[in-house]
Amino acid sequence: MRIGRQEIWPPLMLAPMAGLTHSALRTTLLGFGGVGLLSTEMLSATRLPAENAQLSPYLVKTAEESPLSYQLLLADEKPVANACAALHRLGADVIDLNLGCPAPMVRKVGGGSCLMETPDRVRCIVASARKNTDLPLTAKIRLGETLDAEKLRDFCLMLAGEGIDMVTVHARLRGESFARTPHWDWVAKVKEWIDVPVVANGGIDSVASARRCLEQSGADGLMIGRAAARTPWLFASIAREIFGMETPEPEVCLPQVYRAFVTALVQRFLPERRLGRLKEFTHYFAKNYFFGHHLAAKVQASLTLEEAWERALEFFAENDPIAEGLSSPFGDVSAAADCNSQSPAPGIWL
Ligand SMILES: Cc1cc2nc3c(=O)[nH]c(=O)nc-3n(C[C@H](O)[C@H](O)[C@H](O)COP(=O)(O)O)c2cc1C
Repeated sequence: MRIGRQEIWPPLMLAPMAGLTHSALRTTLLGFGGVGLLSTEMLSATRLPAENAQLSPYLVKTAEESPLSYQLLLADEKPVANACAALHRLGADVIDLNLGCPAPMVRKVGGGSCLMETPDRVRCIVASARKNTDLPLTAKIRLGETLDAEKLRDFCLMLAGEGIDMVTVHARLRGESFARTPHWDWVAKVKEWIDVPVVANGGIDSVASARRCLEQSGADGLMIGRAAARTPWLFASIAREIFGMETPEPEVCLPQVYRAFVTALVQRFLPERRLGRLKEFTHYFAKNYFFGHHLAAKVQASLTLEEAWERALEFFAENDPIAEGLSSPFGDVSAAADCNSQSPAPGIWL
């Protein structure tokens, strides 16, 4: 799969997720392989140019985290030129525009899914972005307020006409919760309408659901969100079983995966930026265990990262026979000094 000048293989993408899609999760995913395109979480286009890339938890990354798409959150075209210039300095591989986020805080400032209601404004944003970058430019949308084929078709045609190189469709309406079955068949309609690659997103949490989604949507690629945090090896499994990639069968030791995530947090983030991210990750990762809500609750109630780790160890000792002998993730604290020169934590669970 190609978006603009960027080759993507396998056509499996990490979804942008606020509080989750950061260097530690990306590093954990890289330990297993199978991700064709990594992503940041949404980044305020207005604030981005002033962020310190060495310290910002939204921007720290290793050289191995590539190709990497940066998602911009914006409400009009004013910040586009400066944001694109900042992304060029950061070495972005792809620039994505957030046109689908339904969060009230985002909508309040006119961003995310609000923009699908104001296509003329989106036209100006895309035109400005296209003028200011020759990087692959992508857009992530939802289906809209209601299932309205004409409106959605016009919107998608406008995006492609203004130079968007790939459209990702989160196959739900703005008001639909994650519990609802996604409308993957509507991704098929988008695919019929436009000539640029179309990626399906929403509800892909296993090889079987990835297969079903591809069958129903005919999409060129798949984007995976929450399941990336719950089962970071899922990309590798889909890459192997659906796209024929020769990745090794993931040998998953859950406590080791968790330890590797904590190690990456310690290596990449300032101390005050770690615990919240561990709590967010644990909310999803804990679902791997029958009594996972106990793990999530223990970590949630912790006041420090060290306490969270100790409590997680207690949980693993009681619930996972292969947890014995886990070494501390706090050994190499000096590694935190220079985030951008770090190699990812080794894929020790492979
Ligand atoms: C915690 C969380 C944060 C999210 N943040 C973003 C975001 O920053 N930008 C965005 O476009 N979508 C965001 N999303 C939506 C996801 O990218 C994705 O569209 C959604 O989770 C459906 O995919 P999934 O079923 O694979 O999780 C977020 C979703 C979650 C659960």
